[in-house]
Amino acid sequence: MRIAILTISDRAHEGTYEDESGPALIELVQEHFHQDQDLYHIVPDDFMEIKRALEQWCDDAHIDLILTTGGTGFAPRDVTPEATRAAIEREAPGLVHAMLAASLQKTPHAMLSRAVAGIRGRTLIVNLPGSPKAARENFLAILPALPHALDLLRGGGADTHALEHPIDSEERERQERNVSD
Ligand code: MTE
Repeated sequence: MRIAILTISDRAHEGTYEDESGPALIELVQEHFHQDQDLYHIVPDDFMEIKRALEQWCDDAHIDLILTTGGTGFAPRDVTPEATRAAIEREAPGLVHAMLAASLQKTPHAMLSRAVAGIRGRTLIVNLPGSPKAARENFLAILPALPHALDLLRGGGADTHALEHPIDSEERERQERNVSD
């Protein structure tokens, strides 16, 4: 499994602000996937730079999962969703719905995220918001479905339970039945 994290922030890219969301996601990847991320970069809130990084990671680095953090809001420089939409070939709206539903339980400001999730080739790209807390909460909202999603992208058949997450045994059985369908 190849996982990459892209922090999208003008200030973090300039070095005037220390990126905290990227490291928060690195920790979550270690905790739940039991591995280090393969790539971690910081780019400014620039449409072309974001799109180029995503495309290169999908096409050349053959990353399975790209998590972006930042630039999903309403500020004039927030263009992560537009750049992501330009890079993906198929949208994955269910992941966005899941993040929104879970996040609205935490804060009404959740509705201010314009996050996009989608697929380019065999890579899943998910936009997460920019604050470490929001990035964590949104990641955890989609975590239960990630193993199966990534398995499907790789053509199925692999171990869908490589990831440890808090799903009960009933849910695990349901997933197993679905996988074998
Ligand atoms: N989602 C969760 N779960 N928790 C949060 O604290 N913050 C929101 C939203 N989503 C938040 C959240 C806020 S305040 C904003 S402005 C948007 O994400 C967009 O954030 P971004 O521009 O940093 O990407």
